[in-house]
Amino acid sequence: MTKNDTNRAETLIQALPYLQQYQGRTIVVKYGGNAMINGELKEAVIRDVVLLACVGIRIVLVHGGGPEIEALLKALGKESRFIQGLRYTDEETMEVVQMVLCGKVNKDITALIQRAGGRGIGLSGLDGGLLRAHRLKAGGEDLGLVGEIEAVDAALLNTILDAGAIPVISSVALGTGDDAGKSLNINADTAAARIACALGAEKLILMTDVQGILRDVRDPDSLIKVIPRPELDALAASGMVSKGMIPKAECCALAIDGGVKRAHIIDGRLPHALLIELFTDEGIGTMIL
Ligand code: ARG
Repeated sequence: MTKNDTNRAETLIQALPYLQQYQGRTIVVKYGGNAMINGELKEAVIRDVVLLACVGIRIVLVHGGGPEIEALLKALGKESRFIQGLRYTDEETMEVVQMVLCGKVNKDITALIQRAGGRGIGLSGLDGGLLRAHRLKAGGEDLGLVGEIEAVDAALLNTILDAGAIPVISSVALGTGDDAGKSLNINADTAAARIACALGAEKLILMTDVQGILRDVRDPDSLIKVIPRPELDALAASGMVSKGMIPKAECCALAIDGGVKRAHIIDGRLPHALLIELFTDEGIGTMIL
């Protein structure tokens, strides 16, 4: 037996309390960014997810697909317009969003799950009316077909989870009211947070392209590993949290305030970030309690 063998066994043993704790619990993972573009990373992330399902964690995957939407819009010669970081979505853009998210990205992920030996059920917020939404007004600005979730059908997700499958959800919702039956474009981070609240999830995990929340944006060694929820607002207001991180931090706050026990921001570019965050004491990103 080599030292290496012992290390490997120790890794598993360190995971034991967490394996016990998470057994039968729900964890919602928002998957996006570079971890979704790079093929090798993508397979690694999906294998991690299948492993989590395999050890009895009820895992829900929520995905975006900004870069792929961008690429198709560009190929079609359509300009993207952003208002306060949100894509202005006219009808034509919404069609492309739906094609890319519900058609391509969603099915690519479910196929990868199957290939890794898991069972992925891909669905959008339209399917079974899983996500219902009304139009989002960002400070009175018209964003077009951009929605804000008002209801999540948790029972539908629980049926899939009870069957031992992994729901893979694209962030397109079914409009209500004046937009009844229309597709609305939803920010995937917020969708994941709302879904986590509706399921009474143990955790929300946002996979991003940054390490987590840094005390100093220019210093990669300044990662804040743990932030108690009450300190999050002050931190965001202090200007220390970078611009791109603020909506992520807000999503975490939304989840915690909605009853989710912990929210994590991790770097999806690091191989097996999910497993390291979940199954080690140290973790790899920022955890909000
Ligand atoms: N594995 C533990 C958990 O999921 C601890 C993670 C610690 N992570 C951190 N960023 N401090 O709850």
